[in-house]
Amino acid sequence: MVIQWFPGHMAKAKRQVEEKMKMVDVVLELLDARLPMSSRNPLIDRLVGKKPRLVLLTKTDLADPAATEAWVSQFNRLGLNVLPVDATTGKGVAQIPKRCETLLEEKFAALARKGIRTRRIRAMILGIPNVGKSTLINRLAKRNAAQTGDRPGVTKGQQWIRIGNALELLDTPGILWPKFEDQQVGLRLAASGAIREEILPLEEVAAFALQYMANRYPDLLKERYGIASGEVQEGARMLEEVGRRRGCMRKGGEVDLEKAAELVVHEIRSGRIGRISLELPDDWQKEGESSAHE
Ligand code: G4P
Repeated sequence: MVIQWFPGHMAKAKRQVEEKMKMVDVVLELLDARLPMSSRNPLIDRLVGKKPRLVLLTKTDLADPAATEAWVSQFNRLGLNVLPVDATTGKGVAQIPKRCETLLEEKFAALARKGIRTRRIRAMILGIPNVGKSTLINRLAKRNAAQTGDRPGVTKGQQWIRIGNALELLDTPGILWPKFEDQQVGLRLAASGAIREEILPLEEVAAFALQYMANRYPDLLKERYGIASGEVQEGARMLEEVGRRRGCMRKGGEVDLEKAAELVVHEIRSGRIGRISLELPDDWQKEGESSAHE
């Protein structure tokens, strides 16, 4: 499988994240709620180290609510603090400052005992492209946009955005790259929109998604494309069926598979197909979590 990141890019991105990391007390790690493990770069653990971290599951408006619940339990079991958010409506976003305060409570209390005056908690947002970093920064910043400004003593060009009384946020996020040597992970990332079309053939992505829906969301598949459970077995054949039923035809009566794939992938990415998640904690247990580690 083609990887879109060259080692040089990776090294540069890693360095930039490391620089930002030094400036903050807490990391807000963004994962796509529809594919939290696949949208997670395993390097994150080493980069964040012992620094407090709040995992934010983004785009929950697009995800299957039951799957999101299962993921929250799974992350809690792994000892991670996790909060589902939807940055487009703001759902869950207001809880972020309080959750950061709780995470930093002990550290700041220890500083206070030493007579060091407490300051605002400094946070950074970190995640792969398209996971919703800018949308969340804008959502958080809007409430206090008037207070945004430079602070002395900070790297030139780096701005802090004040969020309420207790928190300030780096205005530029840390960007990690998706890791997708694993075929399944790559297909999930592509279906969600995290990987651009040219990386993986869209027809393959659409066929994968249809097959996945037949297994996990047969009702949505029936509702949207009229394909009943068990009617068509294989993803590629389902795509052909969708093309035929939705009028993606070439002259001569042949199905235009490219057009059909575009339609399916667009409807999945936009949520028009319904609220679906592309992986469950069980899938990773089955896959041996091989891709969860470097
Ligand atoms: P990034 O900084 O991490 O790269 O992501 P960004 O905020 O730019 O968001 C990527 C796309 O995801 C944007 O769509 C944005 O509107 C959408 N998005 C972000 N948060 C949410 C959310 O909570 N729910 C939903 N439904 N969408 C969200 P876009 O501008 O249309 O870009 P694209 O989809 O054409 O790539």
